[in-house]
Amino acid sequence: MIHDVQAIAAEVIRKTGKDKPADAALREVLKQIKDLAPFDATEIAKTVFLYYRWHVWLREERGVENKMRLAIRMNQRFQANNASVTLAELREKAVPAWTAAEMDVTDEWLLSLQREPKLWLRAKRGTGGALARTLFAADASPLLPEAILYRGEEDLFKTPEFHAGEFEIQDIASQLVGQLCAPQPGETWWDTCAGEGGKTLHLSDLMQNKGMLWASDRAEWRLTKLKRRAGRAKVFNYRSAHWDGGSKLPTKTKFDGVLVDAPCSGIGTWQRNPQARWTTVPNDVRELAAIQKKLLTHVAPSVKPGGKLLFSVCTLTRAETTEVAADFNAKFAAEFEPMDLPATVSGGPPTAATKTIWPQDLDGNGMFIAGWRRKK
Ligand SMILES: C[S@@+](CC[C@H](N)C(=O)[O-])C[C@H]1O[C@@H](n2cnc3c(N)ncnc32)[C@H](O)[C@@H]1O
Repeated sequence: MIHDVQAIAAEVIRKTGKDKPADAALREVLKQIKDLAPFDATEIAKTVFLYYRWHVWLREERGVENKMRLAIRMNQRFQANNASVTLAELREKAVPAWTAAEMDVTDEWLLSLQREPKLWLRAKRGTGGALARTLFAADASPLLPEAILYRGEEDLFKTPEFHAGEFEIQDIASQLVGQLCAPQPGETWWDTCAGEGGKTLHLSDLMQNKGMLWASDRAEWRLTKLKRRAGRAKVFNYRSAHWDGGSKLPTKTKFDGVLVDAPCSGIGTWQRNPQARWTTVPNDVRELAAIQKKLLTHVAPSVKPGGKLLFSVCTLTRAETTEVAADFNAKFAAEFEPMDLPATVSGGPPTAATKTIWPQDLDGNGMFIAGWRRKK
């Protein structure tokens, strides 16, 4: 059956609102269409997201269909020639004005936000090259081991390789977090904000399934999803526990490494998730920065002497990145020292205690990472 991709995209946009993000509306609508080809599903998703990527340019246009057509035209012109939109226009329309007070709004970042996002996969340790050859239209990244850029149009969730747990869909900057944690087989780690387990699964793979990995989150339903993913990925060395972020920790264990992949304003994902540009507000930044500081303070005592503490957020505001790191340094100077993070990617100083990855650096999400070691 032939589906009208634009009509379906318009339906998704109509369903999207403050209470229903575009990706949730997309899932809801697509679930109801039984015989949708993967290619059409991808086109619908692309159309919905480019609509929000060009949102402010569409203001004068009437009706969702007309706005959508204009967004498609703007997008085609921009992807063919980035200079089709002036930098002044990008500054005014690509992001909300309040961002200028919260972070460095550079031309390179604004340009990256209007480009189509890339789809990154993470192969199991040591199998990146082989998997890239098996999956059609996939390239192993020269920057990170096991990161694969997927350019094809297959429904990856239906591939035998996915069902066999040979890869996960995971952004390249998120993969960098796992690489910088560098957990060793046999160690004991805690992924404190594990969510659905993107980083838990990576840490386990790096630990070669040996040692113990705790995965906690405030949202039980996310941990349930993690359980399903762990089964598929054949991850056996983890246990999950509820933790609401408070001072009562889920275990008295002392860890070789603790990762706080904290809730954040998510500005680093605004290329992939453009609707969030228009729903995130400065107050979110304030509230989340306070939560991040609290989470770090609560987990610090569970790091063993000589152990590592890593903090990561997929955002770029000063309040949620360098200011959180500075706050931790000020509170814990007697117990923790900043840890050198190796230069796993090109650019930047060879080692540093914090890393800011801009979306344009890796063609992925923006990410901030800080690391400390507990003094012996
Ligand atoms: C950035 S997401 C984690 C993503 C996950 N680590 C991954 O790689 O897939 C942040 C997580 O923190 C959890 N969270 C939010 N507030 C929290 C809190 N106060 N205490 C503990 N976890 C919290 C959320 O449920 C969410 O799963």
